[in-house]
Amino acid sequence: MSYSIKNQGDYEDHYQRALEDGERFWAQVAEHFDWTVPWKKVCSGGLSKGDMKWFEGARLNITANCLDRHLDSRGDKTALIFEPNDPEEKSVSYTYRELHRSVCKAASMLESLGVRKGDRVCLYMAMVPELLIAVLACARIGAVHSVVFGGFSAKALADRLKDARCSLLITNDAGMRGKKVIPLKDIADEALGQCPFVKNVIVHKRVGRSVSWKEGRDLWWHDLFEGQPDHYSPQELEANDPLFILYTSGSTGRPKGLVHACAGYMVWVAYTFQNIFQMGEDDVYWCTADIGWITGHSYMVYGPLLNGATALMFEGVPTFPDAGRFWEVVDKHRVSHFYTAPTAIRSLMGAGLEFVEKHSLSSLKVLGTVGEPVGEEAWKWYHENVGKGRCPIVDTWWQTETGGAMISTLAGVTKSKPCFAGRPMPGVNPVLMNERGEVVSGFGVSGNLCIGAPWPGMAQTIYGDHERFLETYFTTDPGFYFTGDGCRRDESGLLRITGRVDDVINVSGHRIGTAEVEDAINQSGRVVESAVVAFPHEVKGQGIYAYVVGEDDSDTDTDGSALKAHIRDKVSSEIGPFAKPDKIQIVRALPKTRSGKIMRRILRKIAEGGSKDFGDTSTLLDSAVVETIRERAL
Ligand code: PRX
Repeated sequence: MSYSIKNQGDYEDHYQRALEDGERFWAQVAEHFDWTVPWKKVCSGGLSKGDMKWFEGARLNITANCLDRHLDSRGDKTALIFEPNDPEEKSVSYTYRELHRSVCKAASMLESLGVRKGDRVCLYMAMVPELLIAVLACARIGAVHSVVFGGFSAKALADRLKDARCSLLITNDAGMRGKKVIPLKDIADEALGQCPFVKNVIVHKRVGRSVSWKEGRDLWWHDLFEGQPDHYSPQELEANDPLFILYTSGSTGRPKGLVHACAGYMVWVAYTFQNIFQMGEDDVYWCTADIGWITGHSYMVYGPLLNGATALMFEGVPTFPDAGRFWEVVDKHRVSHFYTAPTAIRSLMGAGLEFVEKHSLSSLKVLGTVGEPVGEEAWKWYHENVGKGRCPIVDTWWQTETGGAMISTLAGVTKSKPCFAGRPMPGVNPVLMNERGEVVSGFGVSGNLCIGAPWPGMAQTIYGDHERFLETYFTTDPGFYFTGDGCRRDESGLLRITGRVDDVINVSGHRIGTAEVEDAINQSGRVVESAVVAFPHEVKGQGIYAYVVGEDDSDTDTDGSALKAHIRDKVSSEIGPFAKPDKIQIVRALPKTRSGKIMRRILRKIAEGGSKDFGDTSTLLDSAVVETIRERAL
């Protein structure tokens, strides 16, 4: 495509043009897509009011750009390869034509149930092709998809169904992850007890598990899907109509439903995918992220399809049947571009080299990472043992809010440095800020990362709470988007993300708010209060450390194992098993200031293994508390 960056000079040229006249630049990129009505204004509004809009006045459908646009030139090209959890089960492929047909049938299926433009549809599914098909079917009719990761609990699912008032839920009877069966329909049933507004549940049979059934509400996917017409004209949507809601955690309060709009998101995701990964027409791309997270949305579903690429979707886990599964799949499908999370790299690194060495990996050309800082050791291991020293690694920094990658090396095109995300994408203006809200300029400096200009992929709002959107992202440093991450700019201008500067923990690339975990712990009945902080974890990147004041004093004297088990269960049922604390320390009291504020800074230090240098403790109500906690630290 001609919006491609092919060499360093192109990058400089795109960067400069986007900087000098962003509207003209993005208009030129956008011309490569199919619009039914052209835009009147490329970008309006701005960061100072948090009201930026892209391509206003235009009409389009993103699925026409993902599918229909490719039918003439790539109709018989493979769009999707599905690799099942069980290595004995056959993989399945869809050409662009076949995928188009399935999406049309699914769109007709949704319409036959009364789903219309603007309705919210929740997808709580395993990583099966029908999830991707359902995502695109929603987009085709203009329904807003809200994908909830299959690892969330019934309570978390219910909260998300309620927040978006979804009228339809699509799920599986169950999902398989390694040897584990995830009873998705059972969990959904529990959630639906609180959600009478969900009119129908479509159940796609994946495992063949017996499930309970509510007549009139529950319907089998295969019964509905089969008879549907295989053509469905895409609905013409306004550029800023919502495409999807995706929930993510912040440092305070409940998870927020970030809303992405159709046009800006499409242009941003397509442009960044193409230029970061540098795929050729015959390459095979594999992103290991679940569609329940933003990486799955942008770079498993939309990015590859918008560029007519072949993408692999994997149902299972990296360690089943053994820690060589990823590499076996790479060889089996001749994967050329492989994109995963540092936590997966660290866990496979720990399993030993023999699992990698059994496989040739000769098809690999480009490697990628996303979701958390990749440490030096993991970076080197990935580069040498997976990439055999010949594949560039793209470390892509971005967030649910940004829609697509903001800072990244472009594979083989721009300079890369281990553990550095690199240079900003064209159109991105990264700014470092100090604690006083002043811009930190120059090289060899650090600060909080903000973005100083609107970009097309920016989320539009938090569903149902625009005030919270403005407050979270646009008030810390007025006129800038506040990312919540720390960042270092080296002597040559390359950027390295150093981790969150707020109360968000990144556990195995899953973003979890400390407040959410504390809420769950505090609801466990036998707890007075709690404080949750992160600690460095060898495989997960960060682990969850909970300090808990129990109601029953005796818990502090015994090992408190009953209370700890109770707390873990509670967090599992309130959020999901992935949010369970790794360490729970039962304490008599938390260190607090005289005004009652918990001194998290000290708790963080102790969790990291610190035994001194707690900084200024003169404002503490009772400084002896700190010493007691430290002595018993886990
Ligand atoms: O802290 C940063 C980290 O993940 C956060 C965003 O999480 P989420 O919205 O779930 O999206 C993850 C996938 C895009 C960021 O605020 N993060 C993301 N990518 C990187 C990263 N940290 C370091 N390096 C990265 N490449």
